[in-house]
Amino acid sequence: MRLAVIGAGVIGRLRAASIADHRGTELVALADVDRECAARVARTGQIKIFTSYQQMIEEVRPEAVVVSTPPMLHEEMCLFALERGCHVLVEKPMSTTLEGCRRMAETARTAGRTLAIGFNHRFYPAVQWMKQVLREGRIGTVDHFRIFGGHAGLKKAEETGGGCLMDIGIHMTDLARFVAGEIESVYGVGSEDNAMAILHARSGVPISYQSTWTEWRGFHWHVDAYGDRGMVRAAYAPMFNMLIARDRRGGRRRRTFKLYPEIIVREKIKGWETTTKLTFDIELSHFLKSIRGEPSEIADADSGVRANAIAQAIHRSSRARAPVVLE
Ligand SMILES: NC(=O)c1ccc[n+]([C@@H]2O[C@H](COP(=O)([O-])OP(=O)(O)OC[C@H]3O[C@@H](n4cnc5c(N)ncnc54)[C@H](O)[C@@H]3O)[C@@H](O)[C@H]2O)c1
Repeated sequence: MRLAVIGAGVIGRLRAASIADHRGTELVALADVDRECAARVARTGQIKIFTSYQQMIEEVRPEAVVVSTPPMLHEEMCLFALERGCHVLVEKPMSTTLEGCRRMAETARTAGRTLAIGFNHRFYPAVQWMKQVLREGRIGTVDHFRIFGGHAGLKKAEETGGGCLMDIGIHMTDLARFVAGEIESVYGVGSEDNAMAILHARSGVPISYQSTWTEWRGFHWHVDAYGDRGMVRAAYAPMFNMLIARDRRGGRRRRTFKLYPEIIVREKIKGWETTTKLTFDIELSHFLKSIRGEPSEIADADSGVRANAIAQAIHRSSRARAPVVLE
């Protein structure tokens, strides 16, 4: 499959590397308003460089594009690509507005093209392992989840449109849906820098949620599930799992730590980008599966809309000081 990338910044560079390395995909073009930035990312002369994404799509006619520009540009770029028959993988957040997300999902439906959202946290090995533990029922019946994600802050609030909730927080919102199922209502407090909420899953299970731009320790998140026979945690950084469980009620407690030495050592030597790229590689294969109509764990357009709706609902709940039920 011939793919192109729009936006060759920090994330676009990793997306481009992922496409170039993947079996079955070819990186054919890159567009960035900063030509030098795009040229640095293009690894060979075979990859065409553009400063206009419209011109790139019209001339190169890629089968799919990855949009990794600032969030306030996602909608116009995705609509343009979808209307010209491209499948699209767009970085999170899908758009800065809920209406924008809905227009994007609708356009993809009308065009009959796949629109996927870059919720790559789904593909962190620790999250995948936790999902497996939950599927196997190893902690019994789950009664609540606890989700936290934070870092030391961004200067680009107006680009993100919604503070920490739309930045690291939107990954956490998607992870909440990924592990607990659909969210029905929220009760929260949110400012630009911090958001805390109780999310209620349709299953009846509550999720305590926090996202922050004031985590002085730096980038760091975890997802915990508590059941009647134990608990399991997926955490990053460093990546690890912790499982404490009894094999039966009243049985002996067993504690399992799962570490990821290969990932941790590689990060120490080559940086955090290596882990992000690993998750992008896995995500890309899920994107291709979804284009082929095969089952996949990729975040689809509706997941992007829903994550945005939950973030907006937390802001609404905060202003109203009341719970908000989602449509
Ligand atoms: N999935 C993740 O883990 C993760 C992590 C960080 C950021 N992101 C998301 O990735 C996206 C990009 O973030 P980033 O940190 O790479 O930003 P960045 O500022 O490093 O890169 C953005 C690039 O887009 C280019 N650009 C701006 N306007 C353009 C236009 N009109 N046409 C073409 N190119 C244009 C810029 O020149 C820049 O090179 C954002 O949506 C962000 O939320 C995702």
